[in-house]
Amino acid sequence: MNTRPTVLTENPRALTITWNDGRESSFLYLWLRDNCLQLRHASTNHRVAETSEIPDDVHPSSTRLDADGNVILTWAYDQHVSTFPAAWLRAHDYANGARHQAPVPKLWDAAIGDALPTASYPDIVTSLTDRASFLRGFVEHGVAVLRNVPGIPGTVLDVGRLFGELRSTSWGLVFDVISMEDANSVAYTNLPLVTHTDEGYRDPAPTVQLQHFIQADAQGGESTLVDGFRLADELRVQAPHHFDALSNTLLHFHIADATTEHRAMDSVISLRPDGSVKAIRYSNHSVLPFLLPPEHMEAFYDAYRAFGRMRESAEFQLRLKMGAGDLYMVDNHRVLHGRTGFSTGGARHLQSCYIERDELISRLTVLERSLSAEGPLR
Ligand code: OGA
Ligand code: ZN
Repeated sequence: MNTRPTVLTENPRALTITWNDGRESSFLYLWLRDNCLQLRHASTNHRVAETSEIPDDVHPSSTRLDADGNVILTWAYDQHVSTFPAAWLRAHDYANGARHQAPVPKLWDAAIGDALPTASYPDIVTSLTDRASFLRGFVEHGVAVLRNVPGIPGTVLDVGRLFGELRSTSWGLVFDVISMEDANSVAYTNLPLVTHTDEGYRDPAPTVQLQHFIQADAQGGESTLVDGFRLADELRVQAPHHFDALSNTLLHFHIADATTEHRAMDSVISLRPDGSVKAIRYSNHSVLPFLLPPEHMEAFYDAYRAFGRMRESAEFQLRLKMGAGDLYMVDNHRVLHGRTGFSTGGARHLQSCYIERDELISRLTVLERSLSAEGPLR
């Protein structure tokens, strides 16, 4: 039996629908007129009527049900007719809890070991199914590993272009991480790099980073990865005062040289209005001195240092020894990355680029749609 409306009841501000399974749903007239499916652009499905211009007292002159269970309203003020299919009303039954949901991330810590989303590069080039499941794993975990990526310089850009749009920074479209004499950054030495999100001084910070290992002969130089969302989740439960301090305190980040100067500001933990974690920004090397009211300074340091210790702890930090031809990609708004120190004897050379996450997600959505023969969201 299809779920369908059986009775329509006109109230002063809203229409109540009684369904054949006994449910009652109430929809504001304003909401119904605003979401009229006949006032949508045919190909984009975008609203073409202006919400702010609907009369305050909008109401129907008549309402009826047709034989297919569609709800049909004729509006008193302009005689426009709106037709709502039963299934659409049911799916958008906000009075009974229908809500847009933030995606639920798959949180991980060091125990995930080598069970990170992993694929072989030639497979994801040739198989759309393999590519879709690899990218789905990346979106859920904020990290993924590719093996068998050809060790030809510049290949990281091919991988980046396969998944999304490249994002150029002051380091260029692609940059080399290699240890050198007279390094202008710790990154270009053989010293360890504590875990961080990249480009904290940019707004927006690049959303996805790809790191391609062209040479990896040095002793050490393991990649360190931490799920920042997992840390936030842990703090929210175990130390809510630290969670609040890290999500309510605005920090400034900065970099300057002869030709560029960037400054960005954000909290360590950014939240969406529904309380879900949207982003992590933790870049201890580029954060400016905290300028907080004195009565908040020590409490903030407690929270900031607790997060900092967690990110370097064996419980939360995953260590991976990447070999030549391996590539990892991280959601730079979620997963912190770094490396352990390495010997100067062997060669270690990686190439890095950034791409835009929204484009990656769009391509994944279209790919999954094509594999399941579904159309776009309506
Ligand atoms: C960096 C960086 C990682 C590595 O340069 O910002 O994170 O493995 N490098 O060298
Ligand atoms: Zn980095």
